[in-house]
Amino acid sequence: MRTVLKWAGIVVGALVLFVVIGGFVASRVGAANIAEVHDVPVATLAIPTDSAALARGAHLAGIYGCQDCHGADLSGQVMGEGGPARIVASNLTPAGIGGEYEPADWDRAIRHGVGIDGTALFVMPSGAYHHVSDTEAAALIAYLEALPPVEKDLPPMEYTLLGKLLAAGPLNLAGGVYADPAPATSPAPGATIAYGEYVASGMCAYCHGEGLVGKEPEQPGAPPAPDLAASGQWTPEQFHQALTTGVTPSGHQMNPEFMPWTATARMTHDEREGLRLYLATLADRRAADA
Ligand code: HEC
Ligand code: HEC
Repeated sequence: MRTVLKWAGIVVGALVLFVVIGGFVASRVGAANIAEVHDVPVATLAIPTDSAALARGAHLAGIYGCQDCHGADLSGQVMGEGGPARIVASNLTPAGIGGEYEPADWDRAIRHGVGIDGTALFVMPSGAYHHVSDTEAAALIAYLEALPPVEKDLPPMEYTLLGKLLAAGPLNLAGGVYADPAPATSPAPGATIAYGEYVASGMCAYCHGEGLVGKEPEQPGAPPAPDLAASGQWTPEQFHQALTTGVTPSGHQMNPEFMPWTATARMTHDEREGLRLYLATLADRRAADA
């Protein structure tokens, strides 16, 4: 009996040691993944100064949802503590990172998911902005650079041990890096299929999946993002209602934390209509491809 217990003790001890060493190695691998420096192709952008471009930039910040995370005045905020990281959306005003960012740095962060030090940004949804054209990116940057400075003391973004462990695995927390060049031009905003396709294949596809066929959520607790072909068949009233109030034709109230209808509500009617016109073609496009 004694020997059995002794052996059991040794086996358990060895297992614990194994897990501790494994965890240590995994957290080191995760930390290395987080610290990895990425080289991405940034564009040479001519930043406009005219009031029309600045107004367009302000509108783009609204429809792409920058305020939803960086705060109403874009001065940043702590989005969450605990879990994999203390998540801090940076202060984008000239009193924050805006003070040191050059146009190429903005481009690297917004469209490629890489910070000024070359490491991947976490939570920042560059996958939704990678499709944004040079023209739109330049207008957005012009607006950001013209923001009034807002001083704010924010704690640093920090990964916890859990975050480092997760970053070692297939769930690559620091993985939102987009290394392809972004497009130079985009269709004029408005109620056209072309503009709708431009927005849908970028921002909407980020969550609803390529081809908008629906996608399982990456965020814990989020519902799956459905196939958008069905919503293309809704009446215009139903579609605009869903994208401005979050209420779908079945009466379901969508949570803006998971489906950013607060951002689509800031689109002009014509911009949303462009989305509707494009989504209405999805069923036929898929039938033609099949
Ligand atoms: C879902 C939340 C979310 C949205 C939406 C979002 N961001 Fe971010 N953003 C973050 C977080 C969190 C960080 C910090 C990431 C890090 O430090 O790893 C960040 C970082 C950045 C950075 C890099 C700042 C730095 O500290 O170097 C820039 C620039 C930026 N965001 C701009 C934007 C712009 C412009 C938009 C809108 C087009 C936007 N963000 C939308 C969450 C968001
Ligand atoms: C951050 C992720 C995210 C982005 C970006 C996003 N969606 Fe969604 N969307 C969701 C989720 C999740 C749901 C399901 C919400 C629910 O069931 O409460 C949803 C639901 C919807 C619905 C309701 C569909 C149905 O059949 O009930 C429509 C319509 C929709 N999204 C359109 C869009 C459009 C158009 C865009 C781009 C402008 C977009 N979404 C961008 C996550 C997203």
